[in-house]
Amino acid sequence: MKQRILFVCLGNICRSPAAEAILQQMITREGLVEHIVVDSAGTYGGHAGERSDVRMRRAAEARGIEMTHRARQVREEDFGRFDRIIAMDDNNYEALFRLAPDRAAQQKIFRFREYLRHHPDWSYIPDPYYEGHEGFELVLDLLEDGCTQLLDELKA
Ligand code: 4NP
Repeated sequence: MKQRILFVCLGNICRSPAAEAILQQMITREGLVEHIVVDSAGTYGGHAGERSDVRMRRAAEARGIEMTHRARQVREEDFGRFDRIIAMDDNNYEALFRLAPDRAAQQKIFRFREYLRHHPDWSYIPDPYYEGHEGFELVLDLLEDGCTQLLDELKA
């Protein structure tokens, strides 16, 4: 059975498209493209149609990760199309909770922090938009950590 994962942040130009690209690369490397589908979206639609933030793309590229996503806003239908909807921080989580049409949909919402194994000090993925280069590197470190654990769960 195909498993469908949607990562969600605020703008869908930094954190969630990076998570999508990282997990997609892991899925491709492990030959799981027939089994796992991954996408990303934002709770705010102001960047819809845009490519990811160039600072995020460059930081990812330096780690061999290509980001090709175009931003879009999350919508109610996504609860029907995805099995797990994973929020980067508590604001995203609460916005998703309000959008969820019913209890079954609410139960599909997770926090990315649940998958972190090597970063006990982080309970959310910090918004790097107003940060310097280190902010983007930290986001990638956290996302690589969590995506590794998430993929292990999906394979199990
Ligand atoms: P993201 O970062 O949620 O990781 O994509 C942000 C992108 C844009 C804005 C905020 C955060 N913004 O305010 O436009």
